[in-house]
Amino acid sequence: MSNYSIALVPGDGIGPEVVSLAVDVLDAVGDKYGHVFNYVELIAGGKAIDLTGEPLPAETLLAAKQCDALLLGAVGGPKWDTLPGHLRPERALLGLRSGLGVYANLRPAALLPQLRAACPLKDEVLIAGNSEGKPDFDLLIVRELTGGLYFGERGRSADGNVAFDTETYSKAEIERVLRVGYSAAGLRRKKLCVVDKANVLESSRLWREVSREIAKEYPGIETSYLYVDNCAMQLIRAPGQFDVIVTSNLFGDILSDEASVLTGSIGMLASASLAGSGGAQGAAAPVMGIYEPIHGSAPDIAGQDIANPLAAILSAAMLLRYSFGLEKEAVAVEAAVNAALDSGLRTRDIAGRSGAGNTEKIVGTLEMGKAVLKVLEGV
Ligand code: IPM
Ligand code: MG
Repeated sequence: MSNYSIALVPGDGIGPEVVSLAVDVLDAVGDKYGHVFNYVELIAGGKAIDLTGEPLPAETLLAAKQCDALLLGAVGGPKWDTLPGHLRPERALLGLRSGLGVYANLRPAALLPQLRAACPLKDEVLIAGNSEGKPDFDLLIVRELTGGLYFGERGRSADGNVAFDTETYSKAEIERVLRVGYSAAGLRRKKLCVVDKANVLESSRLWREVSREIAKEYPGIETSYLYVDNCAMQLIRAPGQFDVIVTSNLFGDILSDEASVLTGSIGMLASASLAGSGGAQGAAAPVMGIYEPIHGSAPDIAGQDIANPLAAILSAAMLLRYSFGLEKEAVAVEAAVNAALDSGLRTRDIAGRSGAGNTEKIVGTLEMGKAVLKVLEGV
């Protein structure tokens, strides 16, 4: 029997609703496969601002560092929107990411057959660029997470009428995230696309320079390059052409929201943030990572039992895989999500737009979570 400690930051808005179901799922996995997960609940974001006056209390970061992995819901809400930048709830996310050194953010986006009707693209668009000629796609965005515009120097002129943010990247920062991308591509379809704006930005030219060097070390992987504006277009023109996309913090933020809509809903996308490629199966020690749905706190639907818990549950699956090396457990969670979708259950956001002949049943957050649990428990 193995013991693991997991820091929980449920956060604001729908965060607590979806994290609590992800925890139920982890516990079901623990019971089934003989693991014990101990949780340490921590505050960050709006909740922490209300209780302590700061978005990321030092104790939260310290306690998180002592855990094996961190599962996060979402932070933020209108209540805190007027605070100055350094006191906004989002600062907590940035502080946790940089404080834990998790520079590589893996954001998988694939079209599940059950959600075909919720994807806004036509078959011919999905087929274009898909090497197997199928109407689907399966891509992974590797977003650099602790550098670039999010962490560069920023400020205002004395009169407040001019503002600036700086995109700064070092060779070392670019190289390490590229290597995570290459290692992921090696386990997938062996294609990697570097996305930048090298026709305009000096920092992007450095990305290209570094990636041309690193690419030589991975002859088995086909490397390509796209400007970010073109990539944004290609994602809705022929998403099937992509396998792994590696890009900067800001571009990855934007492109992953775009990709999420293609999967049917942002409520489906999980993410893992790691300082490397994560733990291999059977690894001796857990590898720290932050796991969070890519959606926000959705304050408009909080507390109404309508949020989609699947992104949080799939984030828990990623936690099992990348932090604990528990591959079969991760696969079991993903299969349970699949089975719940197979049975026709849909939260509002992923309900098909197909009309007549529709066998889907719209359910709430809890019912969807319970359906996944039932499959795991074999009930
Ligand atoms: C994300 C979010 C965050 C980000 C916000 C909430 C700070 O959009 O995780 O994609 O921009 O990184
Ligand atoms: Mg985002």
